[in-house]
Formats: sequence, C-alpha cells, structure tokens
Amino acid sequence: MWPLLITSFTLCLAPSYQQFPRLCATREALRTKECCPPWDGDGSACGASSGRGFCQDVQVPDFPDGPQYPFSGLDDRERWPLVFYNRTCQCAGNFMGFNCADCKFGYFGVNCNERRESLRRNIFHLSRAERLRFISYLNLAKHTVSADYVVATGTYREMENGSTPLFANISVYDVFVWMHYYVSRNALLGGPGNVWTDVDFAHWAPAFLPWHRVYLLHWEHEIRKLTGDMSFIIPYWDWRDASGCDVCTDELMGGRSPLSPNLLSPGSVFSSWRVLCSQAEEYNEQGVLCDAREEGPLLRNPGNHNRNIVERLPTSAEVEFALSLPNYDTGAMDRSANMSFRNTMEVVEPPGGFGDPQTGLGNSPRMGMHAALHVFMNGSMSSVQGSANDPIFLLHHAFVDSIYEQWLRRHRPSLSQYPQSNAPVGHNSEYHMVPFLPLHRNREYFISSKDLGYEYSYLLDAGEFPQNGNVLYAASFKPFIWLFPPVSAYSFLFSLHLHLKSSML
Ligand SMILES: *[C@@H]1O[C@H](CO)[C@@H](O)[C@H](O)[C@H]1NC(C)=O
Ligand SMILES: *[C@@H]1O[C@H](CO)[C@@H](O)[C@H](O)[C@H]1NC(C)=O
Ligand SMILES: *[C@@H]1O[C@H](CO)[C@@H](O)[C@H](O)[C@H]1NC(C)=O
Ligand SMILES: *[C@@H]1O[C@H](CO)[C@@H](O)[C@H](O)[C@H]1NC(C)=O
Ligand SMILES: *[C@@H]1O[C@H](CO)[C@@H](O)[C@H](O)[C@H]1NC(C)=O
Repeated sequence: MWPLLITSFTLCLAPSYQQFPRLCATREALRTKECCPPWDGDGSACGASSGRGFCQDVQVPDFPDGPQYPFSGLDDRERWPLVFYNRTCQCAGNFMGFNCADCKFGYFGVNCNERRESLRRNIFHLSRAERLRFISYLNLAKHTVSADYVVATGTYREMENGSTPLFANISVYDVFVWMHYYVSRNALLGGPGNVWTDVDFAHWAPAFLPWHRVYLLHWEHEIRKLTGDMSFIIPYWDWRDASGCDVCTDELMGGRSPLSPNLLSPGSVFSSWRVLCSQAEEYNEQGVLCDAREEGPLLRNPGNHNRNIVERLPTSAEVEFALSLPNYDTGAMDRSANMSFRNTMEVVEPPGGFGDPQTGLGNSPRMGMHAALHVFMNGSMSSVQGSANDPIFLLHHAFVDSIYEQWLRRHRPSLSQYPQSNAPVGHNSEYHMVPFLPLHRNREYFISSKDLGYEYSYLLDAGEFPQNGNVLYAASFKPFIWLFPPVSAYSFLFSLHLHLKSSML
C-alpha cells in the first residue's frame, strides 16, 4: 500500500530540480550544448521574461592546475560543464536553479526575498517526533524517483558526443549518492583496467570543504521540495571524543544486525536500503562508469576497522589543533600538504594519535579527523566513491562543515587565501564544482555559513562570531528552527514509518 501513498503524496508537491536536469539530458540539448530550460512560471527559458535569469555562455577561466593529473581533453569533468553544455541559466538577484525556478540558499518565498537563517542542531537534541520525521524524510527520498533529475550512465564519448544520450532514472536520495561517486571516481583512460587514480574533484585538495558544503545545502534544498517542509534542516553528529558509533541505534541511523556484524538491524528502515555505485574496483577493471543499478544492502561494521590506519574517533584536542592552523592549504595542496587546515581536517592525524611526534604532516599512512570516521564505519562509508550510500554521511559531513565554519570565523581569511591556481584539477577558486548544475564556483563557498543562511546550534554561544561584516546577520535574523510540517505530511510520514517498521518485524 505504501508505494501508492508515496505516489499520491509526491504528485501534489512541487517538483525537485537537480542535475543532470531531465530537460537537458536530451539529444537536442547535448547537440546544441545548451541547458536553459523554461521556468514554469512564465514559460520562458531561465524565466527571462520575468527577469529571473538569462541563458548565457559559460565562462571557464584557464588558470593552471597542479601536476597530479597530467592530461587534458580526456575526462568529461574537466573544465566543467563544457563537455556537456556551454550555455546555461545564469540567475539574477536571489534566484537559483538550472532554470532559475528556485531561491538562493538562505532565501525563501515566491519572490525569493524572505531571508531566513536555519539552525542545524545536534541529532541527540532532536525530539522523538523530530528524529522520526528526519528518518522518514530520508526514507521517502530513497524511495521517490527524482522528478527532474537523471544521472549519466556513460561518458560523453560513449554517448557518441551526445547523439545517443545515456541517462538513468534514480531516486532523490540516490542522485546524491551518484553525484558523490561521479565527482570522486577515477579517470577512465580507455579500455579495461586503464584508469588514472590520482584525480578527485572534491577530495584531497582545497575544494573538499566548499564542495561538501554545497552538497549538503543542495541536499537540504531537495528534501524541502520533496516534502514541502521548508523548515527541514540536516542535524549533525558531534563525534568528538565518542568511544563508538553512538548514532548507530535503531532510534537513529540503525543498530547492528544480530545475524551479521556488517549488516544493519531489521529494526531500522535503513536495513532495507540498497546501495549503488559502490564497486569502484569493478568499474575500473571494466573501464566503465557506474550504471546506477542496485548492488546489495548497506554495509556497516563500526569499530571493526583496521586499527593500524585509524586508532579511534577524533578527539576535541585534535579538532582544536586543526582549528589553530592559520593556513587554509599549503604546499602542493593535496594529501602531502603539511600544516594545512584543510588537509588536517580532511585526513591527517593530528597530535596525540599513536604518540606520533610529527604532527600536522601530510602523506601519513595513518588517518585522522574526517577520514577516520569513514574508515571506522568499516562498510559502505569506507570507500570514498560509495560513501554517501550510508545516511551517516550527512550527519558526519554536517559536523565537518561546522568545524570549517569555526575555522572561517576564527581566522577570517580573505578570499585570496583560497588558491586561484596550481591546485589539483577541479580545485582552483574559479572552477565550477563537478557535477552541479546550476553552476557553483569553489570560491563562492569560502564564506561564512551565515552568508548562506544557516548556523550551527553549538556555535551560537561559542563566541566565534566575526568582529565585522557578518555580525549584521547574526543580529538581525532570527534562527529558523525546525518546525512541524503540515499535519497531513506529518501523519502520512508517521504512518509510512510505522508501516515499514511493522513490515520488517
Ligand atoms: C557551444 O557549443 C556549440 C555546439 O558544439 C557550438 O556550436 C558553439 O560554438 C559553442 N559556443 C561557444 C561559445 O563555445
Ligand atoms: C566525437 O568527437 C570527437 C572529437 O571531436 C571525434 O574525434 C569523434 O569522432 C566523435 N565521435 C562521434 C561518434 O561522433
Ligand atoms: C524515466 O522515467 C520516465 C517517466 O516514467 C520515462 O518517461 C523515461 O523514459 C525514463 N527514462 C529512462 C532513461 O529510463
Ligand atoms: C573492515 O576492516 C577490515 C580490517 O579489520 C578490513 O580488512 C576491511 O577491508 C574493512 N572493510 C571495509 C569495507 O572497509
Ligand atoms: C612535510 O614535512 C616533512 C617533515 O618535516 C617533510 O619531510 C616533507 O617533505 C614535508 N612535505 C612537504 C610537501 O613539504
């Protein structure tokens, strides 16, 4: 009965817009390289008749990349999005979206002129009803086909330069799983097993923090449109000093199965989730892209990881050490970077771990901070390309983003601290983030979350406010706390949740 409910439920909601926009996955759009769909409000491309935006040539500057990826003209993600499109909607004012139908992050209302600040809260501080709603929304997203978004299952060359489009329908949640896979996958050099692994458009380099920030903002945005609950906000998991996966309970992200240590408990809806894009080695052996098919259950075995790589979850002292580093990135701006805030936050094991006297140094065989969580989960979370299959990914990255936010507030870097050139491919300041449409440049997210319309509850009293500029927002905008959605949506989700639970017990 519940698939029927989902269908009737989603039909009455505004559609969700994402990338590849279904309307741009056509032979015609690929042939002309134009992705400027009409806005429903007036039927004109990009809502141009209403002044929402215009169809314009995409500008991709030519600042040199670092030496890690020695090719050009080989991978569809280079100079994003030019392989697929060279004209897209550029929205005016507070409008956003691939056809300018949406509002920029932090803006609401029909005309996108209501500014509101959203408050991301600790998942343990949510009420029972709020937790239930969060899990129900995740599950709804996992089981609702994205109305306006499809994913590429072949390369541009395999699409015969656009004349044979290769795209697949996929759920709202899985669109995000795919995006994380696509941005981090290896480069296919042609033929089986022929890949270049030292390339990643969202990890091991400066764009790691801005890219994941945009990813979470889009995720929130899509859930809001899917559910009609404009107050939806991702909670975070504060893992500092945790002795284990304390969110791994059936109340939250799923406990351990009594039958198999690397499966989830049948008391959690997540035990029935199926993963995709999780077999990186297999795709590489075959020289193909992930085709978005189901690949079995979600795997997680927290704490049964290799302790020679990760000793334990990160501590408050380690976070504090990372925050004390004044340089955003250093050296080659990759995994070898020493005393880099970004590299320390992402992967380096800071002082304390294993009593290592060398601290804040790159290229260590042991991992800390952000990467430690992934390894610790010992399952779907542990491979970069497939990690977003596990919804813990969202809670984890929300907390990582809050540490990025603390660093921005403490050091108040000028925009020029973000590298303009010589970062690994995809990571220079002006590069468009792969594979987002609408387009976002890395540097646009090297700013305080307050300028993007959100705040973290634990930073509210932390005295980490900047002395100027952004403080205006803090004073004049009331935090927008997660309120109850319309009664009908709520009761629907509640019954869905009960139904799923009872069907599994
Ligand atoms: C965009 O691509 C189309 C199709 O290949 C081409 O005809 C056009 O010249 C390109 N425009 C620009 C500005 O490069
Ligand atoms: C696609 O474009 C490339 C480069 O322009 C060309 O070498 C190739 O023959 C084209 N392939 C097809 C199937 O049109
Ligand atoms: C996706 O689903 C839509 C609607 O059911 C259908 O028209 C379309 O052909 C499907 N596309 C693909 C690539 O399967
Ligand atoms: C889980 O940890 C074991 C070592 O304890 C390791 O051999 C295995 O590769 C890990 N699995 C995943 C999926 O990370
Ligand atoms: C990082 O520091 C270590 C130890 O001082 C040094 O051996 C290494 O060359 C440095 N790496 C870079 C990229 O500067």
